[in-house]
Amino acid sequence: MPPIHIRPATEQDLPAISAIYNDAVLTTTATYDYATEGLERRQAWFRDHVELGLPMFVGEDPIAGIIGWSSLSPYHRRPGFRFTVENSIYVHAEHRGRGLGGRLLEPLIREAARLRLHSIIAAIDASNEASLRLHQRWGFAEVGRFREVGFKFDRWLDVAYLQLLIPPETASGQKAGG
Ligand SMILES: CC(C)(COP(=O)(O)OP(=O)(O)OC[C@H]1O[C@@H](n2cnc3c(N)ncnc32)[C@H](O)[C@@H]1OP(=O)(O)O)[C@@H](O)C(=O)NCCC(=O)NCCS
Repeated sequence: MPPIHIRPATEQDLPAISAIYNDAVLTTTATYDYATEGLERRQAWFRDHVELGLPMFVGEDPIAGIIGWSSLSPYHRRPGFRFTVENSIYVHAEHRGRGLGGRLLEPLIREAARLRLHSIIAAIDASNEASLRLHQRWGFAEVGRFREVGFKFDRWLDVAYLQLLIPPETASGQKAGG
């Protein structure tokens, strides 16, 4: 596998970011969106993140281009929640299962520590084994499950909530043991 470069996302990356997301909308329960997004929505997302100072990363393959992305978003807009964020990670369907997810999660944890955030929440469709394993591998612990709060592809879906509390010692982005 050629070396994948992980770097902050730029505005030029948005069509590729959106295409990876839209494929997941149509083919997975990773997101409970039904309809693909237009580029304007992704541009607004980008501007919002720049304004809030929250990180967005891409994984770039020298041949295939952008093959994955990750970000931190506000968990809730009320000020008392300002030290908590929610994360997103999307890897292109043809590049899953090769460790890119971890490479995109690691800088989010590092940035969260640098920004003095306290907690990252991952809301994961309970059937999404790869995402559950990925987050657990990086120290996230399941704190609860909501049953049948989602509905997509003609079935009810459970959501698992995983959380990482960010003590200062993880500021280097060290992978959890195991
Ligand atoms: C979830 C996702 C980000 C994981 O990234 P990835 O690069 O495919 O995963 P990795 O190769 O880093 O593997 C992560 C872990 O999941 C496991 N895994 C990978 N694919 C798997 C699968 N299909 N089923 C079960 N486990 C799987 C790996 O073995 C690894 O576990 P380990 O560290 O215990 O060995 C990626 O598959 C993806 O983008 N999926 C679609 C969108 C999505 O689900 N986003 C997350 C929304 S919460």
